[in-house]
Amino acid sequence: MLCKSAALLAGVLISGVSALDGRRRSSVIEDDHGIDWFPCSGLDAKYSHGDELNISCGYYDVPLDWADHSVGAASLAVVIYPATKKRRGTMYINAGGPGYSGIEFLLQYGPNHIRKAIGEHYDFVAWDPRGVGHTTPGPPSCFHTAEDWEAYFNGTLEETGLDIKGNLTDDDQLYKFYSHVPEMERKYRGLGKRCAEAESSKTLAYLGSAAAARDMVALADYLDPGIQELNSWGFSYGSMVGFIFVNMFPDRVGHVVLDGCMHPLLYATRPITEYYLNSLESSEETFGGFATGCAMAGKNGCKLVQSDSDTAADVALRIRGMLDLAHDLFEFGADLTGTYTSAQAREHLYNVMATPLLWSQLAEEMHAYGKDLTAIAANTTCSRALSMKQSDADSDIGPPTYEYVAILCGDSVDAGNMSMRGGFEAIARASKYVSPLFGPQWHIGVHMCFAWPARAVERYTGPWDSKLKNRILIIGNSVDPETPFGNAKLMADLLGHNAALVRQDGFGHVSVAERSSCITNIISRYFEDGTLAEGSDATTCPIDDDVVLFPNSTVA
Ligand SMILES: *[C@@H]1O[C@H](CO)[C@@H](O)[C@H](O)[C@H]1NC(C)=O
Ligand SMILES: *[C@@H]1O[C@H](CO)[C@@H](O)[C@H](O)[C@H]1NC(C)=O
Ligand SMILES: *[C@@H]1O[C@H](CO)[C@@H](O)[C@H](O)[C@H]1NC(C)=O
Ligand SMILES: *[C@@H]1O[C@H](CO)[C@@H](O)[C@H](O)[C@H]1NC(C)=O
Ligand SMILES: *[C@@H]1O[C@H](CO)[C@@H](O)[C@H](O)[C@H]1NC(C)=O
Ligand SMILES: *[C@@H]1O[C@H](CO)[C@@H](O)[C@H](O)[C@H]1NC(C)=O
Repeated sequence: MLCKSAALLAGVLISGVSALDGRRRSSVIEDDHGIDWFPCSGLDAKYSHGDELNISCGYYDVPLDWADHSVGAASLAVVIYPATKKRRGTMYINAGGPGYSGIEFLLQYGPNHIRKAIGEHYDFVAWDPRGVGHTTPGPPSCFHTAEDWEAYFNGTLEETGLDIKGNLTDDDQLYKFYSHVPEMERKYRGLGKRCAEAESSKTLAYLGSAAAARDMVALADYLDPGIQELNSWGFSYGSMVGFIFVNMFPDRVGHVVLDGCMHPLLYATRPITEYYLNSLESSEETFGGFATGCAMAGKNGCKLVQSDSDTAADVALRIRGMLDLAHDLFEFGADLTGTYTSAQAREHLYNVMATPLLWSQLAEEMHAYGKDLTAIAANTTCSRALSMKQSDADSDIGPPTYEYVAILCGDSVDAGNMSMRGGFEAIARASKYVSPLFGPQWHIGVHMCFAWPARAVERYTGPWDSKLKNRILIIGNSVDPETPFGNAKLMADLLGHNAALVRQDGFGHVSVAERSSCITNIISRYFEDGTLAEGSDATTCPIDDDVVLFPNSTVA
């Protein structure tokens, strides 16, 4: 969570504002309560590959406010991937983010990863949560156009990212960094006001994780009437929705998997600024794995290696050198159009840490990036190698939408307990104590809850140790750059005997980041007959031998 890397897991990010299409149902819930399924290509042409697998989409209406049905209705965009053998039930997927489309996630991971683990006997169902994708209310918008946004944030941290040299621990840089507090406080207060005045503000209070848990239960009551036990797999931020679900509805717990886990106590009961430090806990170690794997592969196997005697430290130093050079060029006013700024390159590095299967490609990109920078430095821009920044060329990008912020801040503790200064301090502390490489990043969601105009009408803040109808399975990767293993352990500890903990002994974010037949087998057996290991010690599962991140390198 707290990053865009889940975009890699969820495929392409949600495509801004979705036009209302003719299939959208009227929003009178007392009306027909059913779902009229249609091929998902009817929702978006990019979903057409699901049509031949009988993956279908539809809308399901729920009350905006579960405690007051008179407020109106939300219309959830739902996707179903039917069982291909004798049906045993339904498995509900909670995708990451917050703010990622469940439909997109299921279309990307349902037919391969999830089908492999859960088998052919379950329907898979996912949906775009409130405030996301094709659901109504859709993504909150606070600017009319991208140009409005650009003009508003022009030249601020929001636009440039955090462009620093070294590691944001020396006094000069810190002084300069903190000097932005008043400006950003003003900008975010202004943004909060804009969002409060926008059309989408009317429904902000009905977005959030507790509502998502209730929506899932309502979907299950409709699709499997009379069946008490609900099955679910929550990935990344989806683990938070899942953890809320099991604690809010302990009697409804069937087979539930939480994978790549959030820290529930920090998320629900502490200022979200503090969350930033937790999310980065294993990020430095992940980068260490990348550098080690690259160095082991040698000159032929990893482009960032210059001589076969290079160590991981040499590779890491080379990358830090690029970030510093890019920063110097930026400060100097060099034209970096067509490549990454230092801030962008750092974010890109962090994002790809989540997906080790892309590390080898990342090494090639960084190699090319180094060449780009050298060329710019030498003022020979014509010899640019490979541009890393192709997508920015897209001209008609709409204004940013705020689904991530809306859900995060909607769930968050009251705004009065947070400040802009607190966000800056979180970055400085993360840089000093948690990750010198990835701490210095600017993530809006962490920083603007103090100015966000709404909180969810329902926020679940515990208890977290409910006695569950069935035991659940909690999965954490040993070295996950976004959701450290300790979070999975914490969830398991909170639930005691009600949970079994499994460690996937590899890198990346959530278990689908690499491949472990051991994990797949544990999940399959669990869904087959409920079997889970006893005891509170984590079972450890190795990554499959055929997972190769770099040639001739054993890092996985
Ligand atoms: C899709 O559904 C039809 C009708 O139920 C069935 O005949 C066909 O085998 C299904 N195709 C797949 C790929 O599951
Ligand atoms: C941003 O500010 C610069 C000057 O600082 C100005 O030249 C440019 O036109 C501004 N861009 C927008 C979109 O307002
Ligand atoms: C930050 O950089 C300085 C100067 O390069 C170095 O001495 C220090 O150890 C670094 N701090 C961390 C936490 O890496
Ligand atoms: C991997 O190692 C083998 C045997 O040591 C060697 O023949 C091969 O060239 C290496 N491949 C790469 C990409 O370095
Ligand atoms: C390259 O050099 C020319 C002439 O000195 C200068 O005008 C231009 O701004 C330089 N380009 C970059 C990218 O620094
Ligand atoms: C701050 O948080 C406490 C609980 O931790 C809450 O009781 C209080 O209302 C909050 N204060 C403000 C101003 O939001």
